[in-house]
Amino acid sequence: MIYELTNPVTKTLITHLRDQRRDAIRFRHTIAELTKQLVYEALKDFPLVEKEIVPWHGDGHFHAIDEENIIVVTVLRAGMPMLDSVMELLANSVAGFLAIKRDESTHESHLYYDRLPECKGKTILLVDPMVATGGSMKDALEFIKTKKPSRVIVLNIIGSPEGLEAVSSAYPDIDIYIAQIDEKLNENKYIIPGLGDAGDRAYNTTE
Ligand code: PRP
Ligand code: URA
Repeated sequence: MIYELTNPVTKTLITHLRDQRRDAIRFRHTIAELTKQLVYEALKDFPLVEKEIVPWHGDGHFHAIDEENIIVVTVLRAGMPMLDSVMELLANSVAGFLAIKRDESTHESHLYYDRLPECKGKTILLVDPMVATGGSMKDALEFIKTKKPSRVIVLNIIGSPEGLEAVSSAYPDIDIYIAQIDEKLNENKYIIPGLGDAGDRAYNTTE
């Protein structure tokens, strides 16, 4: 299923992100704020477990998400601010990294580096701000599925209808939480109206 956020605050932040005058630090910060909104929505029914803490009063048994069994997998580069944001909320979650680059002439994606912890039986939160053709997300999911997690939840900021359809028809069992679904792709497979190149905008590069 695909779940698109509807909150007016979300829409306001997306509009700020679209503004090309938004510099890299504020771009990353806005991505991070939107990611927190996605996490709250995606985990709103997530089970709680009993944790033992050191309280000022009582026996110390309280409920929390079992953060240690959540793996936050980011797709480099543009997913980095999303990873940091999830781990600010779920400080004991575990990070995983995939490097996937889209060839800008063929638009084919290519996974060229992976560094994932043990995923078997764990919940994966896969974060990447952009779903354009969906090729990068499908590569990431194909790789992650080989690691036998119990569940995968995808968090995105902006996606095209065609890219999201490609991902959800290849992986119908996966829930995708996205801040905004845009109109279409252009002839260069960029999302319209989109954000431009999210990696470049986040890190002050031009290619
Ligand atoms: C961007 C983005 C996605 C991908 C989406 O990464 O972060 O991973 O493009 O495009 P797709 O759906 O058509 O595959 P990019 O390859 O530009 O790498 P970068 O983050 O290093 O800039
Ligand atoms: N990658 C981006 O960063 N933006 C797009 O619109 C498409 C792919």
